[in-house]
Amino acid sequence: MTNNNIYFVANWKMYGNLRSLKSLNKVINIAKSNLLKKAKIIYCPPYTLIDQFVKKTKNTKIDIGAQDCHFKNGSGPYTGRISANQLKSIGTKYVILGHSEKRSEGDTDQIINKKILIANQEKLKIILCVGETYKENKNKVVLNVLKKQLNSSLKNLKKFNNIILAYEPIWSIGTGLIPLNSEITKNVNFIKNIIKKKYKIQNIKVLYGGSVNQNNINILKKINNIDGFLIGGASQNYNKLIDIVKKTTI
Ligand code: PGA
Repeated sequence: MTNNNIYFVANWKMYGNLRSLKSLNKVINIAKSNLLKKAKIIYCPPYTLIDQFVKKTKNTKIDIGAQDCHFKNGSGPYTGRISANQLKSIGTKYVILGHSEKRSEGDTDQIINKKILIANQEKLKIILCVGETYKENKNKVVLNVLKKQLNSSLKNLKKFNNIILAYEPIWSIGTGLIPLNSEITKNVNFIKNIIKKKYKIQNIKVLYGGSVNQNNINILKKINNIDGFLIGGASQNYNKLIDIVKKTTI
């Protein structure tokens, strides 16, 4: 781990309802106790809960993000979509873009690029996910895949501002499989170097995501070039989430 604030992004996917506010309250109370002072927790609940989560976490160290936004901004005839501007207007701070579950529903690098430019313009902080499939991993083309995803999705982005990257091998998401620490270190360094060269900046944050849980966190936290974790399944259970945070930061 790097020594700064350690990020824990809780991606709730299509889970959670009003009863989930109880578990959020528990995490807020623990966060108040200063026990988690090195942790930066970002909840990304479904759209239906964002407003409530934003209100509950006001004046706490917990921030709220969305799991996606539309590639058109403002308002318009886009049934079922939510814009970056609408998210911003209710106090959402972050947005996850390029998650493989969105890519598998049709989000191409070009669409992700449009979303990034819009979210950036709205001053939403972006968590951009990149990662390879199992086949690409076996064919040893991971670095090519990462390079292409980064270059295409960041096209025309003049300044790399308020963007956190998440290295998420697709074959690790929800499967219980995780790469070796050495493999993660290599791919994260590669990602950091691309951004360093492209934008001439030093402080680049990269998280690891894919089957992070309370049992494997003691191994994963030994990776010294990552800045935190993007957690799906395990983040919906507050006991598991707190266990992960404590094991990493205390
Ligand atoms: P997982 O999901 O932790 O359930 O594998 C990770 C993710 O949402 O990217």
